[in-house]
Amino acid sequence: GSLRALAAERDLFIGSAASAQALAQDPKYASVLAREFSMVTPEDAMKWPRIEPQAGQHDWSDADRVVEVARANGQTVYGHALLWYASTPAWLADGSLSDAQIREAVHRHIAEEAGRYRGRIWGWDVVNEPLEADGRLRRTAWSKAMGPDWIADAFRAARAADPHAKLFLNEFGVDGDGAKSDAFYELVRGLVKKGVPIDGVGFQSHVDLTPVPEHRVENLRRFAALGLDVAITEVDVRLILPPTAAKLKKQAEVYRRTLQDCLAVPECVSFTVWGFTDRYSWIPNLQSGAGMACLFDAELVPKPAYAAVAGALSRA
Ligand code: G3I
Repeated sequence: GSLRALAAERDLFIGSAASAQALAQDPKYASVLAREFSMVTPEDAMKWPRIEPQAGQHDWSDADRVVEVARANGQTVYGHALLWYASTPAWLADGSLSDAQIREAVHRHIAEEAGRYRGRIWGWDVVNEPLEADGRLRRTAWSKAMGPDWIADAFRAARAADPHAKLFLNEFGVDGDGAKSDAFYELVRGLVKKGVPIDGVGFQSHVDLTPVPEHRVENLRRFAALGLDVAITEVDVRLILPPTAAKLKKQAEVYRRTLQDCLAVPECVSFTVWGFTDRYSWIPNLQSGAGMACLFDAELVPKPAYAAVAGALSRA
């Protein structure tokens, strides 16, 4: 069976990031996405600069397309991402706006985007990547304007805009043990304690062939113990090119372990890959010398990693 049929048996969403452009232009890509995945995350189409390239001028076409295609295929949509420092519109950060105007723009943006898709989004990454590598809160255009409560503020605005969407805080490099994980845990615990409307925590899980994060299951469980869902939101497993049979086998093992750790935690609701095919993966563009990080190769042929994921889903 497909990954999506197998995942349904395990009461898990199996997701992929999807490119709006590839969906429009590549029927083979669209058909594999529809067949294999029960959840879709727009890879770029919902990012703030994409939907509002100029202040007050919106282009919803790509985001609408992904949502519409997913609906037609009976797939659940995971929204990504209302606020991400690396997706700040140029017009917001060019120094022309006052702090009050930035705050107003952030609130308006969340109301508009989460409001537009109200009822059609299962969950939102409300805030993406709040932490520096050392665990300190990142300084962003909005943290400077809104002060330290900007994260809490963003979650409240998202709840108001779409009361039924699950609201997630998403981060990378926090899968296992470590100072950044501990800082992330303290941040999330503080939000829960203050009554901020947060429903879940996302673990991106962009990794390579080095050993998997230590104590991932325990780490996921401590977040779940706060009363939250946990989700694996952006898995890919890059390798140093060129590929060899041994590297592809190792890659399959890393995918398998990541999924097994999610399956070991009842609150782990979804396992989402950051693109399913090497044809369009972001890795070669942004990580030099690395690539082939996905479940399917560039010809859309399943790799050993696909069989590993299917195998882990099949085992009861
Ligand atoms: O589509 C245009 C193309 O028309 C143009 O010629 C080209 C020139 O630069 O740019 C293309 O757009 C690029 C897009 O990827 C599609 O390839 C953007 O410049 C580039 O910034 C964009 O990168 C995305 C990146 O986030 C930054 O937004 C990647 O697709 C996307 O995979 C990556 O995803 C992030 C998550 O959102 C958050 N977590 C980490 C993850 C990986 O970096």
